[in-house]
Amino acid sequence: MDLTDKAILITGGTGSLGKALTKHLLETSSGLKRLVIYSRDEQKQFEMAQEYPPHLYPQLRFFIGDVRDFERLKRAMQGIDYVIHAAAMKHVPIAEYNPMECIKTNIMGAENVINACLETNVQRVVALSTDKAAAPINLYGATKLASDKLFVAANNIKGWNPIIFSVVRYGNVMGSNGSVIPFFLKKKKEGVLPITEPTMTRFNISLQGGVDMVMHALEHAWGGEIFVPKIPSYRILDVAEAIGPECEKPVIGIRPGEKIHEEMITDSDSFYTWDLGKYYTILPSLLKWKLDDFVSHFNAEKVPFGFRYNSGENTEWETVDGLRELIKEHVDASFEA
Ligand SMILES: NC(=O)c1ccc[n+]([C@@H]2O[C@H](COP(=O)([O-])OP(=O)(O)OC[C@H]3O[C@@H](n4cnc5c(N)ncnc54)[C@H](OP(=O)(O)O)[C@@H]3O)[C@@H](O)[C@H]2O)c1
Repeated sequence: MDLTDKAILITGGTGSLGKALTKHLLETSSGLKRLVIYSRDEQKQFEMAQEYPPHLYPQLRFFIGDVRDFERLKRAMQGIDYVIHAAAMKHVPIAEYNPMECIKTNIMGAENVINACLETNVQRVVALSTDKAAAPINLYGATKLASDKLFVAANNIKGWNPIIFSVVRYGNVMGSNGSVIPFFLKKKKEGVLPITEPTMTRFNISLQGGVDMVMHALEHAWGGEIFVPKIPSYRILDVAEAIGPECEKPVIGIRPGEKIHEEMITDSDSFYTWDLGKYYTILPSLLKWKLDDFVSHFNAEKVPFGFRYNSGENTEWETVDGLRELIKEHVDASFEA
């Protein structure tokens, strides 16, 4: 995507995805006018600014702000062309314990981002979603579903504004903050890898895979799509075997709000889901463009009614050896099983 003279803002730019996106954008788009990181914690911004010193990366700016603060967001969006909304509370148990805090950040924050974009000259917005938003059973997933609905529906209230809102939904990001692989790598030193449920499966995507899907949505969205990449699943027991074959693996029981398998597309979504080759897209029920044009442009094929995309029923699986290589490549270069 040609980003020459474009200004991009990433909410949650100091998080796992935000940092990967920043690296990608700085490495691949030398003509980028401005890249703004919007988040709350000054320490994380300070550390990131040391990694990218201003004399080498003058296009990179840091803006302290909360997505709960509409006025601050609006100020930050001045002169911005594209927004990637990655800020969120994402820890399931913390959201269960502090429900209103999660609602304020993930739902009210999403609404603020949408309104700030509508009131400035932003042209494209991609919001991050999660597999936990499909048929949610925990508050985190429910807030992300509400956020997805807000971003999809924002295309209906934009009037003549040509802005395009879309959503990218994917599963566990390998090695991201708080995810199972870094947790097991730490626990390996103690010789014990706690397994919540031996039959558990999860989707698996690398940070670069997440970045690629976001960039694809930024470039190609027509408005209202939920993009779902086709990615492999892993069995949690295979992850444990890949990391610590010698470790004890006690079963400690499923945590509150956890599913055994994750789903990215439910059978109810199948009515609106299209297969576009490397990814699926769930289209909005209310289209602002002609479906026939979309189908012929993307060579899209309708999935059968009742189709679902579930980590336990996936056709593509990571193996123990494959996981070891991926961990070395994407999480810890010094990793040895
Ligand atoms: N990691 C995964 O496995 C995964 C999978 C699927 C989807 N996702 C989605 O991808 C997105 C990014 O996830 P991530 O893994 O990069 O998360 P992360 O590492 O936890 O980063 C979250 C970012 O959001 C910022 N933030 C949190 N609350 C904020 C607020 N109220 N206002 C402004 N900034 C705020 C944080 O910085 P401060 O705390 O300094 O504000 C941080 O920069 C999220 O929307 C998440 O739901 C993640």
